[in-house]
Amino acid sequence: MASDLMVYSYKHGFSGFAAKLTKSQAQKLAELPGVVLVIPNSLHKLQTTRSWDFLGLSSHSPNNILHNSNMGDGVIIGVFDTGLWPESRVFRDEGLGPVPSRWKGACKSGDKFNATTHCNKKVIGARWYINGFLAEYGQPLNTSEGQEYLSPRDANGHGTHTASTAGGSFVGNVSYKGLGSGSVRGGAPHAHLAIYKVCWDVLGGLCASADILKAFDDAIHDGVDVLSLSIQSSIPRFSDVDERDGHCNGFIPCSSTMDRAFLSPITLGNNKTLLGQAIFTGKEIGFTGLVYPESSTDFDPKAAGICEVLLLNNISVSGKVVLCFTSMTRRTAMLVASEIVQEAGGVGLIVAKNPNDALYSCDGDFPCIEVDYEIGTKILFYIRSTRSPLVKLSPSKTIVGKPVSPKVAYFSSRGPNSIAPAILKPDITAPGVNILAATSPLDLLGDGGYAIKSGTSMSTPHISGIVALVKALHPNWSPAAIKSALITTAWQTDPSGLPIFAEGSPQKLANPFDFGGGIVNPNGAADPGLVYDMGTTDYIHYLCAMAYNNSAISRLTLQSIVCPSTKLSILDVNLPSITIPSLRNSTTITRTITNVGALKTKYRVVIEPPIGIMVSVNPDVLVFNSTIKKISFKVTISTTHKVNTGYYYWKPNVD
Ligand SMILES: *[C@@H]1O[C@H](CO)[C@@H](O)[C@H](O)[C@H]1NC(C)=O
Ligand SMILES: *[C@@H]1O[C@H](CO)[C@@H](O)[C@H](O)[C@H]1NC(C)=O
Ligand SMILES: *[C@@H]1O[C@H](CO)[C@@H](O)[C@H](O)[C@H]1NC(C)=O
Ligand SMILES: *[C@@H]1O[C@H](CO)[C@@H](O)[C@H](O)[C@H]1NC(C)=O
Ligand SMILES: *[C@@H]1O[C@H](CO)[C@@H](O)[C@H](O)[C@H]1NC(C)=O
Ligand SMILES: *[C@@H]1O[C@H](CO)[C@@H](O)[C@H](O)[C@H]1NC(C)=O
Ligand SMILES: *[C@@H]1O[C@H](CO)[C@@H](O)[C@H](O)[C@H]1NC(C)=O
Ligand SMILES: *[C@@H]1O[C@H](CO)[C@@H](O)[C@H](O)[C@H]1NC(C)=O
Repeated sequence: MASDLMVYSYKHGFSGFAAKLTKSQAQKLAELPGVVLVIPNSLHKLQTTRSWDFLGLSSHSPNNILHNSNMGDGVIIGVFDTGLWPESRVFRDEGLGPVPSRWKGACKSGDKFNATTHCNKKVIGARWYINGFLAEYGQPLNTSEGQEYLSPRDANGHGTHTASTAGGSFVGNVSYKGLGSGSVRGGAPHAHLAIYKVCWDVLGGLCASADILKAFDDAIHDGVDVLSLSIQSSIPRFSDVDERDGHCNGFIPCSSTMDRAFLSPITLGNNKTLLGQAIFTGKEIGFTGLVYPESSTDFDPKAAGICEVLLLNNISVSGKVVLCFTSMTRRTAMLVASEIVQEAGGVGLIVAKNPNDALYSCDGDFPCIEVDYEIGTKILFYIRSTRSPLVKLSPSKTIVGKPVSPKVAYFSSRGPNSIAPAILKPDITAPGVNILAATSPLDLLGDGGYAIKSGTSMSTPHISGIVALVKALHPNWSPAAIKSALITTAWQTDPSGLPIFAEGSPQKLANPFDFGGGIVNPNGAADPGLVYDMGTTDYIHYLCAMAYNNSAISRLTLQSIVCPSTKLSILDVNLPSITIPSLRNSTTITRTITNVGALKTKYRVVIEPPIGIMVSVNPDVLVFNSTIKKISFKVTISTTHKVNTGYYYWKPNVD
């Protein structure tokens, strides 16, 4: 069966999949329009938590940030995820320092979770949040037979994995399905963990924004230093609550598992298999008729095949699968279409839609498979090319996946920044491929309490662990300073000097829209020399620049705020990057840099602008001494390009 041949699907860094194919199948696949490249798999020796060595954090080398920060001793990492499996050895607390006295959090007992025995000096807090989830879910959670626990206990495994990656203790002699053995550990093995279970093991993991916000609220109160969230689209924007509904109707299928893909093979009568996405857990629909209802709309021919206005009376749908197209972003189109198809006796629905919209499932076991317009069009061409089109729908496989250089989410935003194009996203990249860490024994992907997972979800706790190390080393650095340190020191080549590629295509070198500052370099971040720092005033200026008004900002900050009368530019937000979405004539921006290196240091600006772009920096020599720790400079950027031809990238250097 096709679904057994799927190995991985890749969804975020690029769109693609790994599958077991014969040579000729692979060749055919490579010829399909829309397929950029097919490359053969190759075997690599599995190194347990090799990612830390890759990042220069070997526990054997005495002089790295891991050792200099005392392995994150004293720092508290909050993990928002599916909870934890408390018996896992990665949560043991041997050798850990005492619970910090500033800790005000709680360890809550519940279903199969005893605060007295399950919290310790490693796991210093554990709470769970379900009300927002239940409100959306509309039915009680099935807690029988270990399907879920009304407690911090992790039925899914994702939370155990991310917590273990960020701050798990050393565990020696771990092997996964006999593939390799070695030790597993988190990025900051001596940090403390505070577990906030906000995601529930339904459809692979769902988290409600109401629960997440409550957990934020608690975590801030509890005294967490670093928050690690491997959850997508979870944070409603300050601006507009209605907009949140637009993006994340009903459940936010955030999570964990959105960087797993739910892949549903669609096999056409010509034996071509196309991949759709669905949360379809029912039985396979064997080869049956496939129809596109173009002759069914007797009121408006232009509405033919449009999901939300399907009229199926006149075509025989009974026992068949229906293809329709929609441009609606909401779930309605799919629900309406699935009802109409089911009423007409149809057995399945294929919806072609914009792939950027969220994944929705139909109710029950009825298969509603989503495809993008391109695949939808292919299916349509197939239908039109044959007298009796057939299709087979296979149940979804939950597949973790994402290859090299995933994009990393700082919780504020991810991906191309649609809210503020002048603010570069993503920020940074961390390993997210084949990460071995602890999991719940109930995790089907696990073996002996460990699992290898890939995805942005796995990158995030790497960053969280590294942030914890930097925080332990420099307790007084602000979040902005730590973030700046990570971004300005990141590698723009991989550690072996090879360029970083993006989108699965060797033709395209990764650019800052793919990897932000680059691949995180923890030892570099320990000593960045200079940082672009930000404090409350800077964040308020950001909100002013985003055109929020005084009363709105005052309500947010709980203090009376008056934005300056001269309009602040978002370009002047003190970030370690400059992004100018539309450069016309000449633009001058300001940055302020703070010396965190040797007291007496002189920096000279080196400019290597792209062709057609002129850049000047004033002053171009920055001299720091014991009294001068901060210096502001202006960057004037102008262009000879008459029209906006896209983004050019330029990494400034300082000597
Ligand atoms: C939790 O564990 C403690 C220590 O083993 C035990 O005394 C207590 O009865 C347990 N509580 C529950 C609710 O099982
Ligand atoms: C809950 O899960 C159990 C075990 O899989 C199953 O037997 C039972 O029918 C489920 N209950 C409900 C209400 O779905
Ligand atoms: C490692 O684990 C294997 C199997 O679990 C065991 O046979 C072996 O003795 C262990 N090695 C060490 C050094 O503990
Ligand atoms: C599809 O594959 C089946 C089994 O391999 C074969 O019997 C059938 O002829 C193929 N159909 C087409 C149209 O190639
Ligand atoms: C079905 O098709 C027939 C003939 O094409 C037409 O007369 C009739 O109005 C159609 N009925 C519906 C409900 O669309
Ligand atoms: C400020 O913004 C809020 C939300 O956008 C709006 O409701 C309010 O009317 C505005 N107030 C003023 C004084 O413009
Ligand atoms: C850009 O320069 C041109 C020619 O010097 C001038 O006419 C135009 O007003 C300038 N545009 C802006 C936005 O400054
Ligand atoms: C630091 O540099 C400034 C400007 O050059 C100078 O005025 C000041 O005296 C210097 N401070 C020390 C301690 O050298």
